[in-house]
Amino acid sequence: MLYIKGAAQVVTVSGGSQAPKTGAGMERLNVIESGGVVAEGGVIAFVGTDREAEEYVAVHGSGKDITVLPAEGKLVTPGLIDPHTHAVFAGSREHELPLRLRGATYMEILQAGGGILNSAAKTRAASEVQLIEETRKRLDRFLAHGVTTIEAKSGYGLRLEDELKQLRAARTLHLEHPVDLVSTFMGAHAVPQEHKADPEAYVKIVTEEMIPAVAKAGLAEYCDVFCEEGVFTPEQSRRILEAGIKWGLKPKIHADEIVPYGGAELAAEVGAVSAEHLLHTSDEGIRAMAAKGVIAVLLPGTAFFLMTKPADARKMIDAGVPVALSTDRNPGSSPTESLPFIMNLACLTMRMSPAEALTACTINAAHAIGRADRIGSIEAGKQADLVIFDAPNVDYLQYHYAVNLTETVIKNGVPVILQGKRVYA
Ligand code: NIG
Ligand code: FE
Repeated sequence: MLYIKGAAQVVTVSGGSQAPKTGAGMERLNVIESGGVVAEGGVIAFVGTDREAEEYVAVHGSGKDITVLPAEGKLVTPGLIDPHTHAVFAGSREHELPLRLRGATYMEILQAGGGILNSAAKTRAASEVQLIEETRKRLDRFLAHGVTTIEAKSGYGLRLEDELKQLRAARTLHLEHPVDLVSTFMGAHAVPQEHKADPEAYVKIVTEEMIPAVAKAGLAEYCDVFCEEGVFTPEQSRRILEAGIKWGLKPKIHADEIVPYGGAELAAEVGAVSAEHLLHTSDEGIRAMAAKGVIAVLLPGTAFFLMTKPADARKMIDAGVPVALSTDRNPGSSPTESLPFIMNLACLTMRMSPAEALTACTINAAHAIGRADRIGSIEAGKQADLVIFDAPNVDYLQYHYAVNLTETVIKNGVPVILQGKRVYA
């Protein structure tokens, strides 16, 4: 039995397991002042005031081995969830930073055969073991920042064998590492060099060969596409997402990241679980997403790193679109594992409130990856994924920016980071 005792605040984010929180609901964190949490058998057994928690432990804990984690003056939240990453790749792309600082754009670098294609060449050349070991370090960093579950997309293989290699690496890490991974197939991340002259041929390979193979191997739950001018058109994106649906892969979409391109509208039409980026989404697109309950996964770190204006989070929240946040961890447009810093940016660059930002990284993020029944809030019966932050309240967490306040991380009821120290194998 594990007992987190005497926290200044336990932020439960309860009441959103059935549907993502929207509008004013995103503000409601259901905070317990002077709270306690008890976990047993990997799940949350009790959450309430510390007085109640102590009673619970006295009644149910007698004769049991009890680990007490004192949390006086600290903040307890659900384990953070990152619903959009490209965390499985080889190498890095720091050489693009000086290029971009001298004025080259992200798309120019891609169109010249760099960007995603540079990472694809490195990922193709890497062995599966190499890929696992490079990614493992990223997962260690996610965990150190309080992130207990991530979504991970393929899309640096861009041919069947290497897409499968990436997805297998994700599955291995899901089994081996404390961070849980939810896999998305994103073969349609870029058109590989060998099909540059005939992108349609590549779309055919994605829809007719890759999607069936990935689905048959049971290696992904979602299918994503980079719907962007110069990458995949809305029409191609629709065919790719529909092929995914046919094979049981739920649709997600990179939409309106660089230019307005009808990605949000397409997300609503195909019934996508989520649309991501959305920097240039039209009002019509926002209305369509709200009407269909498509979750907006916003990535203010990507806008920051590409030195551009972030998505209009306020407009989306006001329109009733459920909003989640993510790092977008990838080697080109967002090389960070700090989801807490993304929350800071969400507040400071998109004017989300501290509470909205936390909702967006917990229960709404859980919905974006189909896990809201098990994670994303502190409620009895849910998986005991918890974080203790060295912060007295949620406002403080979002205000003391760009530092890691994560002190202790509990995964499935077991401490994996304790007082800032790694305690897992
Ligand atoms: O979400 N936009 C497309 N994909 C990633 C970037 C991937 C990369 O640059 O390697 C993104 O920003
Ligand atoms: Fe992305």
